Amino acid sequence: MPNRSHFNSAHRMMNRLRREGRSHSSAVRWTEPRVTYHLALRSDAAELLRALPTGSVQLAILDPPYNLDIAVWDRFGDYIGWAKEWLSELPRVLSDRGSAAVFGGFQFQAEKRGDLLEIMHFLRHKTPLRLVNLVVWNYSTGMGAHRFFANRHEEIAWFARTDKYFFDLDAVRQKFDKRTLQRYSRDKRLNRDNLLKGKNPGNVWRVERLSANSSERVGHPTQKPSELVSRLVRALSYPGSLVLDPFAGSGVTARVCIEEGRNSVVSDSDPRFPAYLKKQLAMVKEPRCPFVFLKDRGVSEFFKSV
Ligand SMILES: C[S@@+](CC[C@H](N)C(=O)[O-])C[C@H]1O[C@@H](n2cnc3c(N)ncnc32)[C@H](O)[C@@H]1O
Repeated sequence: MPNRSHFNSAHRMMNRLRREGRSHSSAVRWTEPRVTYHLALRSDAAELLRALPTGSVQLAILDPPYNLDIAVWDRFGDYIGWAKEWLSELPRVLSDRGSAAVFGGFQFQAEKRGDLLEIMHFLRHKTPLRLVNLVVWNYSTGMGAHRFFANRHEEIAWFARTDKYFFDLDAVRQKFDKRTLQRYSRDKRLNRDNLLKGKNPGNVWRVERLSANSSERVGHPTQKPSELVSRLVRALSYPGSLVLDPFAGSGVTARVCIEEGRNSVVSDSDPRFPAYLKKQLAMVKEPRCPFVFLKDRGVSEFFKSV
């Protein structure tokens, strides 16, 4: 049975461009940043988005409350009514090559109070954004269940501003083990360079949730593992571009951006946010380049620096 991907026209076109040494029209020529800038604010997400310049954001990482009642900030009567305040601003603030990655879960919601399903429906039908992938974040631990299959995943819905969205697959490829590489190398249809670079990680990401005593933990109840955030940052943004996280929680996105050489604007409405962020900054290891943290500055001042 032949691999059907060889008959996929987009796949064949990418292979042809590679053979001819040409780039896809979505390619971005970026230069290595000498310094990156980071702004952290305590702000309401919708207010922050309204203040951002048009086309300024390469990647928006959005991990809003899931509406599960796990904290005071996680309870909504009209979830989509609240969410559309910030969702509506996304098409304006994203660059033409830009993307939004929205975290959520829809498996918990018997009461139909609003969740990622409504967010995806809104983005698809009420905005020009296009769904590229639904990533399944899979982990091995969680609550037990007797009346349904125990939940072991959350979702990350990847929407792009246009069909020219930036995607750096090479930055997130996973190496083949030696035996698999030898076996695949015998298949003449497979591209040798890509085999050496590694495989596409696929859209099911096995990344364990942070354990209670994980060294990454800074005290936020729903902190995401940096491995998840860094895969998004490396694949959907490029060095020197701007990553936005308006539900920054523990501040992990700021740390990843410093380490990966992206600029960042991160904010959260929780008064504990500055304390969490301080702990994240203490964990920064090997920043890609020197960085400047702009404290107590407004959005317009930040954009004069970047
Ligand atoms: C799911 S958590 C984000 C966790 C974060 N991604 C991390 O890995 O640490 C959602 C966050 O949204 C914040 N939040 C809730 N409503 C908000 C609003 N209207 N504007 C900004 N932040 C809000 C909460 O304080 C909470 O920290």
